[in-house]
This record gives sequence, C-alpha cells and structure tokens, in this order.
Amino acid sequence: MHADMKIALTKPFILRCFLVSLFLSLPFLLLHLLSPQQQPRHSVTTNDLRIRPGYSSYEAYIQRQLNKTLNPKLRKIWTTRDWNRKISVFASFFEELKEKKLLDNTSKALCIGARVGQEVEALRRIGVVDSVGMDLVPYPPLVVKGDFHNQPFGNDTFDFEFSNVFDHALYPQQFVAEIERTLRPNGVCVLHVALSRRADKYSANDLYSVQPLIELFKHSSLLHVRSVDGFGLDTEVAFRKKLEPPHHL
Ligand SMILES: C[S@@+](CC[C@H](N)C(=O)[O-])C[C@H]1O[C@@H](n2cnc3c(N)ncnc32)[C@H](O)[C@@H]1O
Repeated sequence: MHADMKIALTKPFILRCFLVSLFLSLPFLLLHLLSPQQQPRHSVTTNDLRIRPGYSSYEAYIQRQLNKTLNPKLRKIWTTRDWNRKISVFASFFEELKEKKLLDNTSKALCIGARVGQEVEALRRIGVVDSVGMDLVPYPPLVVKGDFHNQPFGNDTFDFEFSNVFDHALYPQQFVAEIERTLRPNGVCVLHVALSRRADKYSANDLYSVQPLIELFKHSSLLHVRSVDGFGLDTEVAFRKKLEPPHHL
C-alpha cells in the first residue's frame, strides 16, 4: 500500500480510539470533579496557608469540631465564668470598627463559628441589634445551626460578617467564597487570625501571612491589617466586598 494511503487510513482509526477512550473515562472524570474530597482546598499561590493533614473524611473533621463544642463541662464554663469577660472584649473590638465606620447600628451582622454567641451578644449590646451567630451547634436565640462551608443564608444577606475561626476551615477557599456570597456589595468582613503563633489543636489550617487571605477574597478589597489581642489571635484583617457582581453569581 502506498505510504500516503496508509496514513490516510490510520488517522481516522486513531481519532476513533481517542474519542472512545475519552467517552469511557468521562464518568471517572465527572466523579473526580464532583467529589467534595477531591475539590482543591484552596487556590493560593503562596505556601503561607497549609491545610493540616490527618482528616480521613469530612465527617471526621466535623466530628472533631463537635467533640469540643459539645463538651458539657466547657459549655458550662463558656456560658458562666467566661460569659461577660469575653463579651466585653468583643464589644471593644466592635466599638473600634464602628469608629472606623465599618459597622453601625443599622448593619445586619453575622458572626461565623460563634459557638455560644458572646460575639453576637456583644454586637447587640453596643446597638447592632440585627445580629446573629452561626455554628455547627445552635445556641438559641443567639446562634443558629450552620456549616460555614455552606452557609444557610441567601446571597447578599449581610452588611457585616465577623469570624475568628478561619483556622477551623478545612476548605478555606469555600469558607471565603461563602462569605463573599452572603455579604451584600459594599459589605464588610472582619477576620481575627493567628499569624505569629499556631492556633489550637482543633484548627484545620495554619496561616503564616495575610497574602493567602488577599488572594482568597477575590471579590473584595483589603481595608486594613492591624494587630489585636483577641483570645490567642493576633491579627485583624478587614475586607470590603466590591460593588460589581462576582462571576459565580
Ligand atoms: C475556637 S471556637 C470559636 C468560638 C467563638 N467564635 C468564640 O470566640 O467564642 C471555633 C468554633 O467554630 C465552630 N466550627 C468549626 N467548624 C465549623 C464549621 N464547619 N461550620 C461552622 N462552625 C464551625 C466550632 O463548633 C466552634 O464553636
């Protein structure tokens, strides 16, 4: 057979083989893309955000968080001895944010990972009455049940979101995406994080600079970074959601 003819006959055959193998691998490809365990946990370019290894499944991660939050002895301490002390510290943080015009009494506010809700009580006491907390374990009337990787709120709901539990996010990218989804355009998010020391043993990630946060808050502008002394957390980072709608909405 002439060489040119041979090439002409083998080309469609190779193409068919390629298409068949592509078709056969489609279900595996889809499974891979849709499985939550396979999703990239974050997409930052620095090595300054590290997910802690050792969670065999999402359920194992949630169970570990619940082990502490549901501990009856600790809950007793949080709601008695610690109650007022923590509220007054949170209240002074929020008063400072009011002075900076990042929060006011008309703000609809959410505290993410609020446990028994001292931060919510602090907001309400300083006049931000439309405030609510969210945690894996509810604590009515201050805290409703919800997973911060999949907030139980609609798009553009809040003017202000506060969280000191970024280090508990197994999927930091999802944690931030949910904040940007539920914040209204121009809304403010304030995070307290630990940069100069490791957070507690229930943390799911370690953060070594603010750069990963700046990259994760894709639809927001950085407002300020400042030192704080907040229950073992040393840095306050504030963002404002931009006015233009994010592409995913
Ligand atoms: C260090 S505690 C902070 C509690 C509170 N913000 C405070 O300062 O008193 C972390 C909290 O995050 C909550 N948490 C952990 N993973 C969570 C998740 N995936 N969704 C919602 N809350 C979560 C825990 O249940 C726990 O109450």
